[in-house]
Amino acid sequence: MPQTHGHTAPSPLPTFAERLAAQGSMLYGGDYNPEQWPEEVWKEDMRLFKEAGINEVTLNVFSWAQLQPSENEYDFSKLDRIVRTVSDAGMSIVMATSTGALPAWMSLRHPDVNRVDEKGRKMRHRERHNACINSPTFRTYSVALAGKLAERYGGLPNLVAWHVGNEYGGMCWCDTCTVRFRAWLRARYGTIEAVNEAWNSAFWSHTYHSFDEIFPPNELGDMTGWSGKAILGGYSLDYQRFYGECVLESYNEEKAAIRRFDRVNPVTTNMMGTYPTYDYFRWRAGLDGNGNAHGVDVVSWDSYPRPDTPAASVAMCHELMRGVGGGGPWMLMEQTPSRQNWMPFNAQKRPGQMRQLSWQAVAHGADTVQFFQLRQNRAGCEKFHGALIGSDGTDRTRAFRECAALGSELKRVSGRILGSRMTPARVALVFDWQSRWAIDLSAGPTISMDYVAEVQCWYAELHRRNIPVDIVGPYDEYDSYDVLLAPCLYMMRASLVTRLRRFVDHGGRLLLTALSALTDEHDSLYQGEIPVPLRDLAGVWVEETDALDPDTSVVPLRFADAAGATDAADDAREGYTGTTPVIADSANDAAGPHGRVLFDVLEADEGTEVLATYGSEYYVGTPAFTFRPSTGNGGVFYAATFPDDAAMPLFVDRLLDGTNIAGLTNGPLTGVVDSRSIVPDATVPSDLRVVDLEVTRRVAANGTMFTFVINPVNVPVTVDLPASLTGRDLLTDTDVTPGERTVEPFGVLIVESSTATAGQTA
Ligand code: GAL
Repeated sequence: MPQTHGHTAPSPLPTFAERLAAQGSMLYGGDYNPEQWPEEVWKEDMRLFKEAGINEVTLNVFSWAQLQPSENEYDFSKLDRIVRTVSDAGMSIVMATSTGALPAWMSLRHPDVNRVDEKGRKMRHRERHNACINSPTFRTYSVALAGKLAERYGGLPNLVAWHVGNEYGGMCWCDTCTVRFRAWLRARYGTIEAVNEAWNSAFWSHTYHSFDEIFPPNELGDMTGWSGKAILGGYSLDYQRFYGECVLESYNEEKAAIRRFDRVNPVTTNMMGTYPTYDYFRWRAGLDGNGNAHGVDVVSWDSYPRPDTPAASVAMCHELMRGVGGGGPWMLMEQTPSRQNWMPFNAQKRPGQMRQLSWQAVAHGADTVQFFQLRQNRAGCEKFHGALIGSDGTDRTRAFRECAALGSELKRVSGRILGSRMTPARVALVFDWQSRWAIDLSAGPTISMDYVAEVQCWYAELHRRNIPVDIVGPYDEYDSYDVLLAPCLYMMRASLVTRLRRFVDHGGRLLLTALSALTDEHDSLYQGEIPVPLRDLAGVWVEETDALDPDTSVVPLRFADAAGATDAADDAREGYTGTTPVIADSANDAAGPHGRVLFDVLEADEGTEVLATYGSEYYVGTPAFTFRPSTGNGGVFYAATFPDDAAMPLFVDRLLDGTNIAGLTNGPLTGVVDSRSIVPDATVPSDLRVVDLEVTRRVAANGTMFTFVINPVNVPVTVDLPASLTGRDLLTDTDVTPGERTVEPFGVLIVESSTATAGQTA
């Protein structure tokens, strides 16, 4: 796959894909916490699992307190019995290390394990995901437990993966972290003068004369009361980087303990999509500076969309998680079979929706379908969370029946899909956690700056067109792509600038937007004409930036037509003083294309094409979207404002113009909803008339293609299937032919074909 991380894979251990290939089917199962029931129930569980086609259980996620009653005492007897039960039933095991929740005795006797929060409050033993990651006690005992588990269970023939901790999250600001942060700074900068220089600490009398003057920036210090904005961006960013590195270090220590006894099975931890706090791209498997294997051998993540989450948002998270792993297969470690319990309104997944979301994950590269969880908790704050087996214990529930139907489908067809990879993408989109942090930490230029939402807008338009997209990190190489979108890529370290420049020099098309290329890694504004490090390639100078409340003010955009033709009538519009050709007068058209949130006022160099201009404000007629050609077909696009829904297709049209990238279905695969067929459903807008089906493709080594066509909504949709989707539907074993076809609510087709009847290019 195109993404690389600058490291080579650490060892010739079998990959996760190879492990599954040997097993012959995707994993189908999930979290199983049988500690809550008498052992007779476990036997009944095994019977029901088999009936549902479950072939995997994830064990031991939160059992630390039971496994280790005190410092020197371990008791694996119950886990032994659980392992024996599930093994006798033929289940594969993903074994967790249980370090995601502390035992109470440890919190009481070794308070260094308890976190200090952002308000400076020292915690007691509480809920879960609760350890100070730098606590010496935590490090000692978590590593010891991981090692003991690996020693005991690492040789099980049915073990398929290790699951370290659980959903690492949050931060700590305690004294231990303070001491370690100072050491981290010393190692990174060498001298206190270098720290001052990096952080621009001459601002507000923040010059430090010794490392001992520096404390973690929580609310007692430099985390401001105004929505957590930073006083010194570089300082707050460094703490966030530092803490994330410590979390990864702790994970790596558990991994190393496992590796002492198990050289075979992949080690992972379950991630959370666009979760803000850690830079997941740093977790890709590779070698650390000392040559030790680190990171996740396979990416796994927990997908919990809300009932109204658009398919594109779910898809973007899948793409992002796949990108974190460098493009390889990944695990859908958790999803709910039916409902969550932690949302304000926990709607049930509609009939067919769990199946559709499961196949959607596979359609984006997942090789497992796993749930939280397999039996509903008896009590505790998750007692209303959905499960395969409910508190009624029967197989007659809708959730069970739907899981069982999917289980038999997976058993029948998933082995064929194993080993295939996502079809190579020509378009990539950069996602950068650190730019996101820096934007979030910045006071100004607007509070309406949601990095993920802005990236999502660009992704959604590509997704709508069924264009294969890789999401790449700021450390990746981009040379294999034709088009690279870098929306709001605010922070650009020198090496990133070098790779972006090389990409453009080699004929790539790069999109920058307002808020791109503004600062270095310390949140210091580049000095010079914006976008400073790419100023020459972009061919524009951002002279100033206006920020308007998006709830009350947007700015119309006027697009030049492809031939650059002038529309005299539009040019003659009252108040319009620009010179750019226009084809649409959207100034008074509420539905027309608009810019939102930020409005860079640009000066375009000679030779820079102006593709759109502003239609109002004092910058009316000035460039809102430009293209600076460079080598071949390449160059830099600059979107000076954030497009609204009507503007986005026009921006993307121009980005792709002349590249022959048209998507797997040569544009959106839009179907029509028969309004008479809509059964009133709170999750479906009553005025829904058209739906875009999602189309993605995986390709096997022998060239066999699996094209997934997915109806993301709970209504039947009639589409005109293009010839590119011809083949045999794996799920129904029937032919898929071009022409009109109605796809059932949440319907899925997996079209198998052997030669490319149409690729992503037109
Ligand atoms: C996940 C977590 C699980 C469970 C689930 C409920 O975030 O890893 O342990 O809490 O949420 O939706």
